[in-house]
Amino acid sequence: MKIGITYNLKTDFKNLVLTTEDALEEFDSEKTVDAIAAAITKMGHDAVKLGGGEQVIGKIKNEELSLVFNIAEGVNGRAREAQIPALLELLKMPYTHSDPLTLALTLDKSMTKHVVKSYGVNTPEFLVISDVSELKSENLPEFPLIVKPAWEGSSKGIRMNSKVDDFGELKTQVEWVSKNYSGQPVLIEQFIRGREITVGVVGNNPPQILGMMEIGFKEDTRNDFIYSLEVKRDYEKLVKYTCPPELEEKVATKIEKMALAAYDCLHCKDIARMDFRIDSKLNAYFIEINPLPGLSPEYSDLIIMAEKLGIKHEDVIRKIIENAVRRYNIGEKVESSASF
Ligand SMILES: Nc1ncnc2c1ncn2[C@@H]1O[C@H](COP(=O)(O)OP(=O)(O)OP(=O)(O)O)[C@@H](O)[C@H]1O
Ligand SMILES: [Mg+2]
Repeated sequence: MKIGITYNLKTDFKNLVLTTEDALEEFDSEKTVDAIAAAITKMGHDAVKLGGGEQVIGKIKNEELSLVFNIAEGVNGRAREAQIPALLELLKMPYTHSDPLTLALTLDKSMTKHVVKSYGVNTPEFLVISDVSELKSENLPEFPLIVKPAWEGSSKGIRMNSKVDDFGELKTQVEWVSKNYSGQPVLIEQFIRGREITVGVVGNNPPQILGMMEIGFKEDTRNDFIYSLEVKRDYEKLVKYTCPPELEEKVATKIEKMALAAYDCLHCKDIARMDFRIDSKLNAYFIEINPLPGLSPEYSDLIIMAEKLGIKHEDVIRKIIENAVRRYNIGEKVESSASF
């Protein structure tokens, strides 16, 4: 097969005037795209780099592709991750990962929380405001709270001071998010003190748990762990990744069930990674989901987790492709040779 790859590189935006230090955080590096291309080649297919701008349309018309491996983040607004998949649907081109509806929905954290909650998945209490003038102390969940831009990922808009302990701090942080994240709504959420577990889910009909990994500080800093921009950027020094995490079986089973329920009710396809927190009473909370999880061979959580489970980067890529091929019923019948 000839497999195209759609993506946005940080370097595509080098002439952009950056409004925040994390403006390009969600975009990929050439290294990630090359690693995906190498995995595709190793499977015996041809890899064609398509990029993520308007040129994708012409390239798709000219290349005889069987499938597109899509990791494009898109640009502008909360439906940005849906842009390339919507275009691929228009062009009748099969592609990996979730469809436009799922990608647009899940980039909006509050919409996602409404959906998972209605399917019985526990998620911290929250509210969304569009302006600081809407803040009223009466209708807030109990402090501490965390303040986030409503439609971001890769810890954009999340810093160590995103956790707020009183109304004054809350107001300052809401103003900071509103000012710096292109006027998007602000999500104010109950801050869950406790352990953080990220979960990978892979496949369709039925999907399976790929693995779970605890993410926390290497050293006891006495501060609550927040996987903030500062912490992610300095992960080698600051972060300890434990996979599998040491969890009581009851808690592990609960989180697995919640992860599969979230994947299912959001109609995810092929793969996703999602975050959970566990409080001191062992209640588990769904925080958010990434149906286009980072696939950097070096620093993406899903890949760190897979490697700790003995699964190579190339096998994760292979698994995503095999699942997409099966969904569309294209290509030769695939016998999985991935190691999981
Ligand atoms: N309700 C919460 N309670 C406790 N910690 C939280 C909560 N929400 C977010 N955090 C902390 O902030 C981090 C980043 O938040 P979140 O996962 O929502 O952002 P993101 O940018 O979408 O992440 P990703 O990089 O996984 O896409 C979490 O990994 C967690 O450490
Ligand atoms: Mg997250």
